[in-house]
Amino acid sequence: MVTLKICVGSSCHLKGSYDIIERFQALKEENGIGDELSIEASFCMGNCVKGVCVSINDEVHGGVTPSNVPEFFEAQILPLLEK
Ligand code: FES
Repeated sequence: MVTLKICVGSSCHLKGSYDIIERFQALKEENGIGDELSIEASFCMGNCVKGVCVSINDEVHGGVTPSNVPEFFEAQILPLLEK
C-alpha cells in the first residue's frame, strides 16, 4: 500500500491542493488501484515555498500543480505500485 498525502495547509490550498486531490483520485479510479493507493489530506508539511507539497510514504515532494499531476503520478507513484 502506498500512502499519498496532499498538503491542504493554507499556502498549498491557495495553489490548488483540492484540485490536485481530485485529479489524483480520478487517476486512482482510472487505474483500478483502489486497494493499493491511499489518498489523504495533510496539514502543512513545513515547506510552503515549494508547494503544493505531497508526501509518498512520508517522503515529501514539492512543486506539484494541478497540471503536472498526471506526469507526477506516472513518474513517482505508478513505479511504486508495480513493485
Ligand atoms: S501549506 Fe503546504 S507545505 Fe505549508
